[in-house]
Amino acid sequence: MISKVALITGGSSGIGEGTAHKFAREGAKVILMARGQERGQAVEDAIRSDGYEATFIPCDVSDEDSVVVAVGAAADTYGAINVLVNNAGGGGGEVFPDETTEEWDRVIRANLYSAFFMSRAVWPHLIEAGGGAVINMSSVAAQRGISPAMYDEFGATTSAYWAAKAGVEALTRQMAGIGGKHNIRVNCIRPGQILTPGATGGHGNIGTLNDTSGQHHYFEKWFDKIQIVPGPGYPEDVANLVFFLASDEARFITCEMINVDGGCAVKI
Ligand SMILES: NC(=O)c1ccc[n+]([C@@H]2O[C@H](COP(=O)([O-])OP(=O)(O)OC[C@H]3O[C@@H](n4cnc5c(N)ncnc54)[C@H](OP(=O)(O)O)[C@@H]3O)[C@@H](O)[C@H]2O)c1
Repeated sequence: MISKVALITGGSSGIGEGTAHKFAREGAKVILMARGQERGQAVEDAIRSDGYEATFIPCDVSDEDSVVVAVGAAADTYGAINVLVNNAGGGGGEVFPDETTEEWDRVIRANLYSAFFMSRAVWPHLIEAGGGAVINMSSVAAQRGISPAMYDEFGATTSAYWAAKAGVEALTRQMAGIGGKHNIRVNCIRPGQILTPGATGGHGNIGTLNDTSGQHHYFEKWFDKIQIVPGPGYPEDVANLVFFLASDEARFITCEMINVDGGCAVKI
């Protein structure tokens, strides 16, 4: 990975933050994007104080103009872009049929338009670099349904989130096909129960691999019923796969959707 430049959206929190640290530790130059200046700068500072290379560039990835400006700045920062991690996103809001059009639009833009805007803007830079890797962040929501009993007991996220993540997977398949002749691999990850600020409701103690006394995932009880590996996952669990998929060791892997969910994709 040494000397590669990795652009990670949503790099200021949770899975994106864990991924930014992982890539930096492995020798990549990291560019992280998010809207909030304070947390983005804090992650850049933390990586730099560990002796690695990172630059935070503010960007609303659901806004086309913001993406074009930020990707231009990113390409200038280290002179190339080799890896794009489309990680920014999230759910929230009312559940079908109570979702408003505004909320549907916001969630689709944050999860799906963002992956399209970012990928389209970064694509020429990957080609210029002789190829690269794109890793999109989906969710187990893209491949599962819910029964009435599950919904009554545990609730659900907005249907826009489920639809957006299914769209991210279709986008992955399309882009992977187009990327083949350019030596660009495109893969997708479906996280399950991962303890992050976005999934626990705050930036307090979310627990770590060695100290799990933090907050709980919104859908902990639901996941605990359907997982094979017990307990929650952590940003590092996802970051390790992102890193592998971006590395040359994954050179023969493209167009794949891979779960990091403790085995909850099993249907019984
Ligand atoms: N945690 C889980 O259990 C889980 C499960 C399945 C899938 N996922 C997916 O994994 C990804 C990361 O989730 P997470 O749990 O790590 O979330 P998180 O802790 O809430 O972090 C989300 C990150 O995305 C950024 N972001 C959100 N909207 C943005 C926008 N419009 N423009 C730029 N940046 C934006 C946030 O920063 P700002 O708010 O400052 O912009 C933040 O850095 C998401 O795509 C999520 O859907 C997570």
